[in-house]
Amino acid sequence: MKKKRPVNLDLSTIRFPLTAIASILHRISGIIIFLSIGALLWLLDLSLSSPKGFLQASLMMDNCIFKFFIWSMFSILSYHISSGIRHMMMDFDILGVTLQTGKFSAQISFLIASLLAILSGVLIW
Ligand code: HEM
Repeated sequence: MKKKRPVNLDLSTIRFPLTAIASILHRISGIIIFLSIGALLWLLDLSLSSPKGFLQASLMMDNCIFKFFIWSMFSILSYHISSGIRHMMMDFDILGVTLQTGKFSAQISFLIASLLAILSGVLIW
């Protein structure tokens, strides 16, 4: 007998809810922060090694690509922290765990992260 099961392999028809996107981005941002810690520590070490090293680090900070990297790191960290605080507030039942509060708090964490990203952009450029 032929089985007639519903099959949905068209990935473009699958939509993630905002809460799922917020959660996935939080995990991805954590991994990116972890991977970039080495580069940031190297830069800190260079700037503290000697006056010449400090000058080298300062010159690097004038480079547009490097500025973009630092801005990206600030923005990603901003998102991880704002979303992390949201997670902890949900864990401690401060925000409540309904779908509505989940969606609203995800929007607020995106908003806070965006504002911090703009602020860090202004400070870096
Ligand atoms: C060096 C800085 C940090 C790194 C490398 C980092 C890395 C990560 C990674 C990789 C995860 C995902 C773990 C998983 O889903 O299995 C995670 C989760 C988490 N992070 Fe961070 N994190 C950092 C800073 C922070 C800060 C400052 C906060 C505070 C707001 C925070 C709050 C959280 C929370 C609450 C979770 C768990 C989220 C959940 O329950 O799904 N993290 N972090």
